[in-house]
Amino acid sequence: MIVGKIDNGIVIDHIPAGKGMELFTDLKLDKLDCHVVLIKNADSKKHAKKDIIKVNETLDLNYDILGFIDPNITVNIIKNGEVIEKVCPTVPEVLVNLIFCKNPRCITTTEQELPHEFRLTDRENGIYRCIYCETKAESV
Ligand code: CTP
Ligand code: ZN
Repeated sequence: MIVGKIDNGIVIDHIPAGKGMELFTDLKLDKLDCHVVLIKNADSKKHAKKDIIKVNETLDLNYDILGFIDPNITVNIIKNGEVIEKVCPTVPEVLVNLIFCKNPRCITTTEQELPHEFRLTDRENGIYRCIYCETKAESV
């Protein structure tokens, strides 16, 4: 499938297949007025399939969200039709108010002003746990 190249903006590449829509929402790209495309199940050299997001405008991204989803995601900065920079997110140690604890008995359900905080407890497997009740984080 051919989807147009962009002139100035960003291409978020190597998103694990199936995670593009989630990322689209988490990065609040639905709020943008410029051209935004989400490509699902593109062919990839590295993985079986991947998702890609293209935004025809430069904007600040939340790299913690990207690193939480997958540190192999590549953000390409495009200027005048050329890739001028490739940035890979790092895996964040701490996630604050990015994901919410699903444990109904967690203190964060009763103490609503507490920040929802998760820490990386297993870097190899990308496992995060709630700092209050140790419940494992699910996807965003
Ligand atoms: N891209 C784009 N518009 C441009 C330039 C690039 O949409 N003007 C997109 C390409 O389609 C690709 C991504 O940006 O999805 C990265 O481009 P490029 O670095 O040229 O591709 P690869 O070398 O395949 O990247 P990688 O090695 O990171 O897989
Ligand atoms: Zn909790």
